[in-house]
Amino acid sequence: MTTSGLGTFPATRLRRLRATSWRRRLVRETVLTADDLVQPLFVVEGTGVRDAIATLPGNHRLSIDQAIKAAQEAHDLGIPALALFPVVDAGLKDEQGREAVNPKNLLCRAVTAIKKAVPDIGLICDVALDPYTIHGHDGIFEGDDVVNDKTVEVLVKQALVLAEAGCDVVAPSDMMDGRIGAVRSALEKNGLVNTMIMSYAVKYASAFYGPFRDAVSSKATLGTKGKHTYQMDFGNSDEALREAMLDVAEGADMIMVKPGMPYLDVLAKVKANVNVPVLAYQVSGEYNMLMIAGANGAFDQAAAMREALVAFKRAGAAAIFTYAAMDVARALAGKS
Ligand code: PBG
Repeated sequence: MTTSGLGTFPATRLRRLRATSWRRRLVRETVLTADDLVQPLFVVEGTGVRDAIATLPGNHRLSIDQAIKAAQEAHDLGIPALALFPVVDAGLKDEQGREAVNPKNLLCRAVTAIKKAVPDIGLICDVALDPYTIHGHDGIFEGDDVVNDKTVEVLVKQALVLAEAGCDVVAPSDMMDGRIGAVRSALEKNGLVNTMIMSYAVKYASAFYGPFRDAVSSKATLGTKGKHTYQMDFGNSDEALREAMLDVAEGADMIMVKPGMPYLDVLAKVKANVNVPVLAYQVSGEYNMLMIAGANGAFDQAAAMREALVAFKRAGAAAIFTYAAMDVARALAGKS
């Protein structure tokens, strides 16, 4: 800030800038648009399925035909991209998460079908094994912990089948070391040079993922063993910079900080130190809190949501993953 911003009362009365709606709109620094939003979608097997997710009000597990409809609507609302997550049948889960690398798995089929029906919406897919493993962890076990390098080998294959299916952005959310470089070189080798990598570089071991694990049914299987040996310790933020810088060096096009609202300090710090787009995830537990508190009459739910999302942008987010994306975009378009 320059010293010209410093004034003394009464020459400077900051309320002058706030006195009317037009003045506030004229000088507002941060504005939220549909372009800032990414809608997560959960896909399941079947047709005509719209299975409400109790802990994520307004969100459903959708069969591919229904996901296509949602993608069309999101596109019509001006939402640039969707984040797709599979809800995998229990019978297809195993110790190694083998279904993750099946080129005909549910997520690959969903990607191809949505891309064909709505070619202009971006598709972002998680690269991690948790929807596919019986233990609900993001990688393969050896002894009593997830083993890094063998997991990375599988993640590379998973990223490739997704990219081949038409996924625009592969998003490793597993927090293994070295996976960005490995995925980037595999994409290059296979001629998939325009497939982007959005690294969940800064992902904390967080209690706020509860409803998501419920949605993809990895919660029960995960039990009480947390993901603390690979996801970050929430006491740290210098480490977030190391994670982010390393992943940019390995070839990440974009970086994710997650969770969101309790970590806006980390988001601002990362944004100040890396020159790639930094995205944020308003994760399932945050969304749940805002929705439940709103439903309980604690506050105007839509107003609180809008305020939270603007805060993400103000802290430096290029875009925000939120389960409210379509609702917010509808409201922004005057359609709700
Ligand atoms: C899995 C994954 C998680 C989320 C996105 N990808 C959960 C986890 O790491 O256990 C959480 C998203 C949310 O809570 O909204 N790798």
